[in-house]
Amino acid sequence: MALSITGTRITGADIRAQNVQAVLAVSNIVKTSLGPVGLDKLLVDELGDVTITNDGATILKKLEVEHPAAKILVELSALQDAEVGDGTTSVVIMAAELLKRANELVKQHVHPTSIISGYQRAKKEACRFIAKEMALKVSDLGPECLVNCALTSMSSKLIGKDGNYFAQMCVDAMLAVATVNPSGQTKHPVKAVNILKIVGGAASDSELISGFALEESRASTQMPKVVMDAKIALLDFCLRKKPLKFGIQMVITDPAELEAMRRTEIEAVERKCQLVIDSGANVVLTTGGIGEIAIQYMVERGIIGLRRIPKRKLRVIAKLTGGVLITNLSNMEGQDDLTSAQLGSAQKVEERRVGDREVTFIMGCSSTSAQTILLRGPNYYMLDEIDRSIHDSLCVVKRVLESKRVVPGGGAVEAALSVYLEHVAESMASREQLAIAEFAQALLIIPKTLALNGAHDATDLVAQLRGFHNAAQSDEKRKKKYMYTGLNLENGRARDNLAAGVLEPAMSKIKAIKFATEAAVTILRIDDSIKKPRQAKK
Ligand SMILES: Nc1ncnc2c1ncn2[C@@H]1O[C@H](COP(=O)(O)OP(=O)(O)OP(=O)(O)O)[C@@H](O)[C@H]1O
Ligand SMILES: [Mg+2]
Repeated sequence: MALSITGTRITGADIRAQNVQAVLAVSNIVKTSLGPVGLDKLLVDELGDVTITNDGATILKKLEVEHPAAKILVELSALQDAEVGDGTTSVVIMAAELLKRANELVKQHVHPTSIISGYQRAKKEACRFIAKEMALKVSDLGPECLVNCALTSMSSKLIGKDGNYFAQMCVDAMLAVATVNPSGQTKHPVKAVNILKIVGGAASDSELISGFALEESRASTQMPKVVMDAKIALLDFCLRKKPLKFGIQMVITDPAELEAMRRTEIEAVERKCQLVIDSGANVVLTTGGIGEIAIQYMVERGIIGLRRIPKRKLRVIAKLTGGVLITNLSNMEGQDDLTSAQLGSAQKVEERRVGDREVTFIMGCSSTSAQTILLRGPNYYMLDEIDRSIHDSLCVVKRVLESKRVVPGGGAVEAALSVYLEHVAESMASREQLAIAEFAQALLIIPKTLALNGAHDATDLVAQLRGFHNAAQSDEKRKKKYMYTGLNLENGRARDNLAAGVLEPAMSKIKAIKFATEAAVTILRIDDSIKKPRQAKK
């Protein structure tokens, strides 16, 4: 019996053409948003929710892409977002260009396997070249290079015009959350920087606060607004009379019994409150509710109580203040107990008015110094976009602080690599030569797109750029002068982007090249697609 394959089958050149078409369609969507003069996208989902963004990963996540090859690109940008945080647009554009050029080679009868090994070789050479020749040590450049990196990542975003202000804020925040892990490395966790969005005011009214901010406010206005030298009890239960669970009924006929039951309930709450007070806590944070009786207790003793705080936040606060999230008051012996060792501590807990909201700040946490960026903006769309941009910049600052290497931006690295890889290709006598030369050309898509988006003559500018890099690489004397040449998108000329302060983390470039090559190779390896018809629902 012949082997039968059900479904639609596409093979060889057809499937490659189809994949390239899908991938280019995705890349064309994000292309116009690349660079400091790139534009934004407006996306509306099926529920009518609007997103305005410039972030490659967000654009692609919101698009419901169906084509399998295009999906690989969507995942590629998500990967870059997770691993690096920035460069999600570049990586997609680069992967699509690599694939397009590979397909042209296949059409000229170069076998995909040769192309794949050529691309892998080129990727390796490119990463080595960046690390050895282009990357600069942060320690040699001085502290302003951190701000410059943050500024470069912000320059393409909505907050670009207030860039200096926000870039400094991101650097300050990341420096303040430095922690040393058990193996002795200094880490800068992005999660320790909490971003709180409050509608109202201008973007430039945003501020960095040393401490953790909670959107919740005091359970009662009679409680104090400020508590100094705070001892914080973090509770995961209610401080109120327990309402009966659904479906449970109690039938009581004797009024005395009813009264006794009420009394027991009240006593239970009172006992819990007394335990919390006895432990020395002067701030109570709970995931549950705080009832009338508990409020009364707290008000009398000048304790701040906050209720209905998400557990996720309480866990963070526990970590920051060195406290324990208490789910149950009973100890190992089965008796109710709460000790002062279980409490978190902070210098100050304060409620302040921000815009039209009350916000509680926990300042001077004892374990890690948490930072909060309080974002202000005229509407939610803008706030969400600022949040994404700030996140990108925080990630960039983290990468620079942890890997300590930067490269000049604005197409400098790509142009240098393209010149270098062409030399590598020329020196090779194997069939990978063609693929490496195409890889070199493909990288130029970044400076080309940057120039195009800036309404400049891309061909002319990229030729100039290559000229400078050729001079730098062939003449030792002119190396220092020209090797950091990148684009100036304001006037459409070439300039030294190191001197201009357009810097990016070296790791971001290296990872982008690695991921883009891997994605292109994954798609290039496909030469057969079998799609089963969808089964009709019974
Ligand atoms: N002032 C500048 N002059 C020249 N080029 C710049 C400048 N600022 C940024 N760039 C370049 O713009 C590119 C980054 O653009 P953009 O931030 O829009 O995309 P991305 O980082 O790839 O993706 P995303 O930020 O959406 O995750 C980089 O190649 C960078 O070198
Ligand atoms: Mg960026």
